[in-house]
Amino acid sequence: HRGLLGIGHLERHEILYVLDQAEQWIRLNRQRSKHSDLLSGLTIINAFFENSTRTLLSFEIAGKRLGADVVNMHAAQSSVKKGETLIDTAITLNAMRPDAIVIRHASSGATQLIADKVDCPVLNAGDGQHEHPTQALLDALALRHALQARGETAEDFTGLTITICGDILHSRVARSNLLCLQALGATVRLCAPPALMPANVEAIGAEPFHDFDAALSGSDVVMMLRLQTERMQGQFIPSAREYHHLYGLTEERLKRAAPDALVMHPGPMNRGVEIDSDVADMIDRSIITRQVEMGVAVRMACLDILTRETRGVESWA
Ligand code: CP
Repeated sequence: HRGLLGIGHLERHEILYVLDQAEQWIRLNRQRSKHSDLLSGLTIINAFFENSTRTLLSFEIAGKRLGADVVNMHAAQSSVKKGETLIDTAITLNAMRPDAIVIRHASSGATQLIADKVDCPVLNAGDGQHEHPTQALLDALALRHALQARGETAEDFTGLTITICGDILHSRVARSNLLCLQALGATVRLCAPPALMPANVEAIGAEPFHDFDAALSGSDVVMMLRLQTERMQGQFIPSAREYHHLYGLTEERLKRAAPDALVMHPGPMNRGVEIDSDVADMIDRSIITRQVEMGVAVRMACLDILTRETRGVESWA
């Protein structure tokens, strides 16, 4: 299928190609006039079955800046609420002849299910605990830009140690980032309380930690994740205070990481739980708002690349 369902389907050179393609859109997005006609005449449906601020808005802005007609389907106001199945919803959307469908859904594999039923490319905007590929791509682009701003112009992340800390078990962001960062040469440490760490992470080449201070030691980048309580039905949920004590990123704790270590968070943040405001708002260290900016450019690149076949343009480089 010619969509973007997960980083697991991408080769290293394809990841780098998306990042390179996004550069032109960063430049456009920083101009006063932000319009391109590249996707003029195409229709993009954003079908979000779960809440979103960043992903939904940035996909909408991305499609509009490329000149496409963008329609948002909010599940809460749709016929899903009247009992329509996911497959019938997919067949219904497909009948309207969209040129791309962007989907967020609470079930892992839902985007694959829809991709199998429709004729156009499907972009995964987050499916359950599985993948959130455009998040990983925008994180890689934000990190690359932050390193370049410091005069470090490496092609990839070889030699960098990156710690991802939080609710790894339920996190599609962690999975997509692990795959993406490893493909780009980084050493990835995963840190979580035992109950929130998937089994056998060593088998996928990640170093597991339960002690946050140990994980931080020597880390060049620290990516913080929130507790996804919406996915913890029936599971023990640590109190915010207890969690902050053991796994919250404070200014003091950040001193254990490499000097000038960068701080990332995909959002939404729970300030005072997994990350302190002092750290989240550090001008020289936190790249959290840069991540959001890069989200629009990366999604523009993905929409361009994935609609090339429809537009009669040669596809991947
Ligand atoms: N990072 C992310 O996916 O944010 P939203 O849930 O706001 O889209």
